[in-house]
Amino acid sequence: MKTVGVIGANGMVGRNMLAELEKVKIPFQVKRFGRNDEITPLDVAVLCTDNPVSRILAGQLKDKVKFMVDMSSEFRLDPAVPLVIPEINANAITAQTQLIASPNCTTTGLVMSLAPLQAHYRFEEVFFCSYQAISGGGKQLLDEFNKAGSYYAKNCVPMIGSLQANGHTSEELKGVYESRKILSIPDLKVYCHTVRVPVEVSHSLGVTLKADKPFDLKQVKSLWNQFPHLIYSESVITPKEVAGKEQTFICRLRADIDDPRIIHYFVTFDNLLKGAAMNGRQIVELLLEKYV
Ligand SMILES: NC(=O)c1ccc[n+]([C@@H]2O[C@H](COP(=O)([O-])OP(=O)(O)OC[C@H]3O[C@@H](n4cnc5c(N)ncnc54)[C@H](OP(=O)(O)O)[C@@H]3O)[C@@H](O)[C@H]2O)c1
Repeated sequence: MKTVGVIGANGMVGRNMLAELEKVKIPFQVKRFGRNDEITPLDVAVLCTDNPVSRILAGQLKDKVKFMVDMSSEFRLDPAVPLVIPEINANAITAQTQLIASPNCTTTGLVMSLAPLQAHYRFEEVFFCSYQAISGGGKQLLDEFNKAGSYYAKNCVPMIGSLQANGHTSEELKGVYESRKILSIPDLKVYCHTVRVPVEVSHSLGVTLKADKPFDLKQVKSLWNQFPHLIYSESVITPKEVAGKEQTFICRLRADIDDPRIIHYFVTFDNLLKGAAMNGRQIVELLLEKYV
């Protein structure tokens, strides 16, 4: 029997990963590992841990497991490690890829909205401002948020991850560099602000996209609706409504007032599902189907 192990099984992503794996039709045995458990040999290990724990575990597991799917940011920009959203670049995985990285949750929502348009429009610039859920910061942040007097209650905090020497946060740089890698557009101009808002689940992004030619709004909606796990909603859709759903939702598409080569829209999706556990489960499914 094929085996899939969830490491960090008691965390936000780990718990969702266990639930997601129940959806997989191919028979396999699931094993769960917490902080102090010894990890047994596995076909696929899903590392639902923070960096640098993921790097330490990846080193320890190299000879014990066939494949590793890492949910942390530790390996995402390593040129030898594919950074995969199966709807977009499943072909980056081969039988020889032992380690596969799953992207940052906010980046996932952005590139899900860009990928369907990529073959039709050459992107010149993309700007986004994020409205990120508390659960994106892990279970410790969610516990802190649920205590009386939390800094995050009734607040917006424009500081996610760590502040870098260039003034950007690590979360903002993930939006830039991971988007370029997933879409294979190394010179894509991405500008962003990432902000934590008092929403428990589901991240949102206000996006402005500039292309090399005027957008056909009808075509854009149709491209989005034809793409797997993506829905354009004619009515306003908010993070509250999409929590627990697999799809990434887009609404409020409109052309810029002055420049038809610019569009504005709003994206919202469950950060723990498509932004994490669902994407990880899709990678596991692909490995089980093709390579294990
Ligand atoms: N939350 C999101 O929306 C999201 C989205 C995409 C990616 N990610 C990434 O996914 C990873 C997990 O995030 P999370 O939100 O689930 O964080 P979390 O809630 O803090 O969970 C992390 C888990 O890792 C466990 N752990 C720590 N050291 C370990 C070790 N040596 N061996 C095994 N398990 C260990 C922790 O165990 P204890 O329970 O004992 O503390 C905890 O259960 C992070 O790298 C994060 O950046 C998160």
